[in-house]
Amino acid sequence: MRKPIIAGNWKMNKTRDEALQFIYAVNMDLPSREYVETVICPQAPVLRDLVKRQGEALRIGAQTMHEATDGAYTGEISAALLENLGVDYVIIGHSERREYFGDTDARVNLKLHQAFRHHLTPILCIGEQLEDRENDATETVVGTQLDAALKGLGKDQIEHLVIAYEPVWAIGTGKTATIEQAEATIAFIRRRITETIDEAVADKVRILYGGSVNPDNLPALLKTPNIDGALIGGASLSAKAFIQMADAALNR
Ligand code: PGA
Repeated sequence: MRKPIIAGNWKMNKTRDEALQFIYAVNMDLPSREYVETVICPQAPVLRDLVKRQGEALRIGAQTMHEATDGAYTGEISAALLENLGVDYVIIGHSERREYFGDTDARVNLKLHQAFRHHLTPILCIGEQLEDRENDATETVVGTQLDAALKGLGKDQIEHLVIAYEPVWAIGTGKTATIEQAEATIAFIRRRITETIDEAVADKVRILYGGSVNPDNLPALLKTPNIDGALIGGASLSAKAFIQMADAALNR
């Protein structure tokens, strides 16, 4: 059985005070890591504050990182610093990074290699645009993103990777993919890993759904055979909703 993951992507939200309030509100009420992995990805300047206050259950992730080891990249964040801060996860290739900040498939691949060098667990985001889905090109687009991202990674790395399938048209729109659409594309991703890597790795890799997930729609998503959790934006800003979603993963 794959352990479920409930990961919150706060994007550019919450001040330090709000982030600390959230941590104190959720710490005692999250399920044990033995059963569910819970992760919060805040804005970078509060990463250390949250790492220091994470309870037994919660772990902290970054929203992005740069692929280079260090150097003249003003405003960027290195994997070495994330590791040094005690951060455990890093989101790589989120569709907003792909759209606004130049995260191409090639850079996403370099970032994954760099994240593994620094013992971070990457949460790799892939997903199609509305136009791709309407043109029946979802599998082509998602398959291409996946193959490019995994290039040159070892099996031991890929089995520790977390993949988030996030249809771009469902992010922040209130428009969730149907359970059938989410499950079918996630099953496709797992099949693709069976074909290009092997079945044992495909069985182990956790694949999350993301896009307008909330406490109401999550339980049904978690009942499917291939969906191992969720990457949640808007609804993860509420401590109460985050606890409810972690509980849904515990009780799935
Ligand atoms: P959303 O964001 O839950 O607000 O749609 C999901 C994401 O961008 O990861």
